[in-house]
Amino acid sequence: MSVLSELGAVVGAGFAAVGLDPGCGAVLVSNRPDLGQFQCNGALAAARQAGRNPREIADAVVSEIASDHRLAGLSVAGPGFINISLTDEAIAGYMNAMADDSRLGVAPSGAPLVVVVDYAGPNVAKAMHVGHLRSTIIGDSLKRLFRFAGHRVLGDAHFGDWGLQMGMLIAAVRERYPGLPHFDEALDGPYSEPLPITLADLQEWYPVMAARVGEDEDLAGEARRATRELQSGRAGYVALWEHFVKVSRESQERDFADLGVEFDLWYGESTVRDLLRPMVDESLAAGAAVESDGAVVIEVAEPDDKTDVSPLIVQTSHGAFLYGTTDLATIEMRVDEMDADLILYVVDARQSYHFEQVFRAASRTGAAGGAALEHIRFGTMNGSDGAPFKTRSGGVLRLRDLIEMVTAAAAARLDESDLAAGYPEAERSAIARRVGVAALKFGDLVNNRASSYVFDLYRFTALEGKTGPYLQMAAVRMGSILDKAAGLGLASGPIAPPAMEVERRLMLRMLQLPEIIERAVELRAPNHLAEFAYETAADFSRFYEACHILTEPDAGRRASWLALVGAARRTLELLLELLGIEIPDRM
Ligand code: ARG
Repeated sequence: MSVLSELGAVVGAGFAAVGLDPGCGAVLVSNRPDLGQFQCNGALAAARQAGRNPREIADAVVSEIASDHRLAGLSVAGPGFINISLTDEAIAGYMNAMADDSRLGVAPSGAPLVVVVDYAGPNVAKAMHVGHLRSTIIGDSLKRLFRFAGHRVLGDAHFGDWGLQMGMLIAAVRERYPGLPHFDEALDGPYSEPLPITLADLQEWYPVMAARVGEDEDLAGEARRATRELQSGRAGYVALWEHFVKVSRESQERDFADLGVEFDLWYGESTVRDLLRPMVDESLAAGAAVESDGAVVIEVAEPDDKTDVSPLIVQTSHGAFLYGTTDLATIEMRVDEMDADLILYVVDARQSYHFEQVFRAASRTGAAGGAALEHIRFGTMNGSDGAPFKTRSGGVLRLRDLIEMVTAAAAARLDESDLAAGYPEAERSAIARRVGVAALKFGDLVNNRASSYVFDLYRFTALEGKTGPYLQMAAVRMGSILDKAAGLGLASGPIAPPAMEVERRLMLRMLQLPEIIERAVELRAPNHLAEFAYETAADFSRFYEACHILTEPDAGRRASWLALVGAARRTLELLLELLGIEIPDRM
């Protein structure tokens, strides 16, 4: 049980003893540390319920619980706030329990769910934009967090591989290589000839074709036809499409791996392609979908809508299935085949309307079953001009360029501070990449995800302050103290009651871990982890400055401090791991 929940039980019992609701005993970390370490504000609510004076209630509760040996300071402030502090012995007891627990005192969820995290969402041939980058960073952290919290989590890249852009790419290839056997309807493969088409080609052709299709109705018709023929299985087109998918996926997976991001599933929109036709037909038969001007739509408006919510189009008048159709069928698959209880869509806020329509449609058709569908929306990452961030090389964000850019910025910072100096070149560049990626991820995750923020690589890579690199350095420093101690044959021992305020503060901070994890899960908000990691590292550094661990003459004290360093290192390691940040062995 966490410290806060245990204190809540103690104070709750106090409320019960004076005939009041034990639920009023909830305890929080104090926002007035000068008055106490913790506080309970429940006397105010209890007083309202019981029509009594809050201050009297608080006094009565305090005298009920005053004999508890864990409590050191109890007082009542203002209209009835109860201030509570722990004895140093109690703090040490909790700290030892935390240090002895492989999960650092965080209990796994008692009601584990199957959670699908739908994140990154890269597309065939299309370059990523900042929305994909933020989705990748936030989604990866949520995946790690939910998994640690005890849920069964499947992270899915939901590859964009089945829409009209496939037809456009086929049309683009046809213009350049009309003689390919893939275009000969009389043949149906296999196509042994290697295709001369690279990802760079596709990325160059796609935006040009997309722009032309917007202006040229004939070309648009051709792209639509090619999409339809692909979707109904024309062999040559399927072979081309498989090639597009392969070259896109290979390079994207490499880039994601360099960011430390791996997917459990690399499903795509195309994964559900065989479900689309039957789903649309069944929805029509069941009356959940209706025909409208030759298209098939699902009405999703609700009586108390303040603005119009238009129907979700699941089949166009040209017979094509759309983005929403694959999303709907994917819900069906995730619920029916993967037993999902909760699906988190980590997608930028600009797609809110789409998800509103899709979620409503899923409840109309029953596709969601009992699963909860949540759009985990986020703001944009902006450049210094306030517009969505772009890399220098042009309009779009190439993950590769970005990784190189953050690595270079981190290398410059390391040079500036003489860090990693004299290390072998390969190790130095591996460290620079880890530091650069940490700067990027932390710079993103420390923000409330709903807000937009400015991408400022210089600030993000600072080795001091609320940054990823600062936390890496703190973790490396903790590790090196432990290594040095081991080298000197110094063992760690039980954690003793804190004798100094810096020690006490560090311990009380770390003991909040269970609630921080809980809050981050509940709000789907990694920024609580980021903030807490920073506070822990900052408290550690104050402790470290004041307490000369390795030269401390009192062996018991030194052993206790070493155990505290060990617990702090594991706490920071866990938090960084949940943020997707890797710690270099040395810096
Ligand atoms: N590929 C999409 C895009 O680039 C993002 C996919 C988001 N996930 C989903 N299930 N729709 O906009």
